[in-house]
Amino acid sequence: MTTTPTPRTTCRRARPEVPLGVWPVTQRTAQWQRAGRYLPACARHPGKMLPELARRIVAEYSAPGDLVVDPLAGIGTTLAEAALMGRRGVGVELDPRWAALAADNLDHMLEGPIRRLAEIRQGDARRLDDVLGDLVGTVDLVVTSPPYGCDAGMIDKQAWIAGGRLCPADTLNYSTDKANLGHARGPAYEAAMAEIYAACCAVLRPGGHLVVVTKNTRREGRTLDLAGLTVTLGEAAGFGYLGHVIALHAAIRDGDLVARPSYWQTTQVRHARAKGEPAHLVAHEDVTVFHRPTSTSKETAHAR
Ligand SMILES: C[S@@+](CC[C@H](N)C(=O)[O-])C[C@H]1O[C@@H](n2cnc3c(N)ncnc32)[C@H](O)[C@@H]1O
Repeated sequence: MTTTPTPRTTCRRARPEVPLGVWPVTQRTAQWQRAGRYLPACARHPGKMLPELARRIVAEYSAPGDLVVDPLAGIGTTLAEAALMGRRGVGVELDPRWAALAADNLDHMLEGPIRRLAEIRQGDARRLDDVLGDLVGTVDLVVTSPPYGCDAGMIDKQAWIAGGRLCPADTLNYSTDKANLGHARGPAYEAAMAEIYAACCAVLRPGGHLVVVTKNTRREGRTLDLAGLTVTLGEAAGFGYLGHVIALHAAIRDGDLVARPSYWQTTQVRHARAKGEPAHLVAHEDVTVFHRPTSTSKETAHAR
């Protein structure tokens, strides 16, 4: 694994250091983590969270009976794993196809009364106060993984080996609907994520946690420091930044780390190197942890 230096531009002001943790989350491959549990159709979603990572976050930052929300729910990994750990889960997903698949997947994975613990709602995370209006101020934990501000698509390995596109054009960016944040880049992406984090702050109870999973990506030799951007946007939305965890995409074998990058990741690095870009494999995701302060600075000042 190589590390990417954080660009100076992200450190606009000094902040107290936060604890750094490392979680190895691919002792088993992503495919094995889902095999026999998730509906096979879930493979069609191009950007799923690792089940092991979702479980780790839920275990660390919530307790049985708590309410967990994922505003960008995809196939519902967070909800399924949370329900299996005795939490209630509500997810929001914009794309009707993924929302329907998430519901089918929950039916498939959760039996009997556990099924009632998890719910998916089709809607726009930028309008979270509408979609989750009944839950405002009651959520204990928000866990989410946003689109990464770069191309994502369903990989068709066979077509690519035969000389075709790696991802069929109609599978790019989660949806053909341009309103899907999978299509947003640059300032439009930042503005949308700022709205979503502000909405997450509103649905959380005071003291509740927001945990965001991102991956720094590279395009034309430049790193998009999504973890740094997430911290900036989270703090601007009113959250306190509590900690940073490296979710290591590596297995530990006889004391050594064996990288388990995705096929997508490996392919992108190969392409970049073929163009002469000195790209390295990124074998981790960044988990940034925030909390909603128990009182706002205005309230604190008033109390004094
Ligand atoms: C990185 S994926 C999340 C995957 C999810 N963690 C899982 O394991 O399936 C991001 C998801 O956000 C959805 N999305 C994009 N824009 C959205 C919006 N405005 N509101 C709700 N969902 C949105 C995409 O369709 C995509 O499924």
